[in-house]
Amino acid sequence: MRYFRAVLGGFLFAPSLAFAQMASFAPPPAAKAEAPVEAANGMAVSAQHYASEVGAQILKQGGNAVDAAVAIGYALAVTYPSAGNIGGGGLATIHLANGKDTFINFREKAPMAASANMYLDAKGNIIPMASLYGYKAVAVPGTVAGLEKMLTQYGTMSRAQVMAPAIKLAEEGFTLMPGDVAFFKANEKYFRKEPNVAAIFLKNGQPYAAGDRLVQKDLAATLKQISAKGPDVFYKGDIANRVVAASKARGGLLTMQDFASFTAEETPVITCDYRGYRIISAPPPSSGGPIICEIANILSAYPMDKMGHHSAQSIHFMVEAMRHAFVDRNYGLGDPNFVKNPLDKILSPQHAAAIRAKIDPVKATPSSEVKPGTPPHEDAQTTHYSVVDKAGNAVSITYTINGIESGFGAQVIAGNTGFFLNNEMDDFTSKVGAPNLYGLVQGAANSIQPGKRPLSSMSPSIVTKDGKLFMVTGSPGGSFIITTVLESILNVVDHKMNVKAAVDAPRLHHQWLPDVITAEPGAIKPEVKKELEAAGYKISEEPGNILFGFDEAILVGTKNGKRVVYGANDRRATSGSAVGH
Ligand code: GLY
Repeated sequence: MRYFRAVLGGFLFAPSLAFAQMASFAPPPAAKAEAPVEAANGMAVSAQHYASEVGAQILKQGGNAVDAAVAIGYALAVTYPSAGNIGGGGLATIHLANGKDTFINFREKAPMAASANMYLDAKGNIIPMASLYGYKAVAVPGTVAGLEKMLTQYGTMSRAQVMAPAIKLAEEGFTLMPGDVAFFKANEKYFRKEPNVAAIFLKNGQPYAAGDRLVQKDLAATLKQISAKGPDVFYKGDIANRVVAASKARGGLLTMQDFASFTAEETPVITCDYRGYRIISAPPPSSGGPIICEIANILSAYPMDKMGHHSAQSIHFMVEAMRHAFVDRNYGLGDPNFVKNPLDKILSPQHAAAIRAKIDPVKATPSSEVKPGTPPHEDAQTTHYSVVDKAGNAVSITYTINGIESGFGAQVIAGNTGFFLNNEMDDFTSKVGAPNLYGLVQGAANSIQPGKRPLSSMSPSIVTKDGKLFMVTGSPGGSFIITTVLESILNVVDHKMNVKAAVDAPRLHHQWLPDVITAEPGAIKPEVKKELEAAGYKISEEPGNILFGFDEAILVGTKNGKRVVYGANDRRATSGSAVGH
């Protein structure tokens, strides 16, 4: 009690209330204590170890972080087929050693024949699985255009050089680890429905086992075409032809015109300052940057460091901030080419202050009382990888094909193209007020329109301090991405964890609706849980919930006066690695 009066100016606590009774602050949770990987020059971290090796190899060959990032993007498309892709899309936040920050938007677009109610039946009800499974769920893929744009603008190597490792991995195969086959096993029922998928991802009709070799000849041939002919073969030539033919034959909407008109865009990043650090992240069509910044702005007035990591008090403020920010996300944001995003408001200190004024110091606010349209809210499967090079260039990329249960997009591969197509159409609002795959209840700003990009939660982020690169972070996990990235940043900045401890620490999440804190085991200590429940929170502990993501992060620091790059593969990504150089 004395503590809170001292640090918070006495405006918060009455002696009888639950949080005020806390005598001490929770220590960091007992994450498995592993040290980060250290290197002098650069680092590549991804959720698949072959892809991380590819990135480090490109850096060793003299490529920069962008060259390595493009090479990892293609390598993950081979070695991590649940999310790594050329059939999906993504977002890249780039910090160049010369101080420039930029963003490449290669998020998928809705086909021109798409319409707002395309997933509703005659009575206006959502048709189960329509936005998730099969060709009708597929949006125009953006990855090939995005990787090309990055390479030509900011890379130094040729397309053939950066694609060579991926082609080799597809053609000669690679050895599967337990983490790889776990994703295959979980999706076996879908693989069996499509003979061309089963031919690749089942071994003589049975699931692959750890230690087996996965060879993908069709994908190798497709990658060779892209390597030799460039994105035109994907968007205007043979590959587009084969995808469009399969889509038309199976009730999809994709046309050659949809492919031919796809462009990746370079736009400014979103930035905000948090305790002397600059957070640089993804703007719309991602909600990631705006909402991480909104939550950070709200939290900046609370002494999170003194409250301690995942103490009842710090969880309370974090969750209340998440609850309010997700209302803005779900009802305010959409593709900036189609809707005006109220970023000035969402990112303003006044908005953060107005939200803080609504946050009870000790009691949970029921989400039913936090509504779009009422003040202050008048006006809201995937993988991440990070690369830093010797010069200090950094690339933070999250890309996705989405999924039904755990990746593999719409669970279809067009003919012999060898790659899964996304089901990113499910990220749109199929029906205002109805939850999507991630339970997100969204508004009309994110309704389906031809050529529009669905709102994303992907948050590829970079943190700088005094203009110098400090951290690269990001994660898969749908709506959980935002809170995962936020917590990793808070863990480093407020709770002084090293980067490995920061990404390994058990996490929690709240997204306004459902009105529940979803927590990993160990994220909330039993005594803290009691205090939070007394304050009105519902808590659901979900062991192994895949949405908690894999934050593949890098931190740049000094040791004995020398620059050191620290890499952290998230403990949850059991096939991943951080590879230094
Ligand atoms: N597909 C998940 C996202 O973009 O948020």
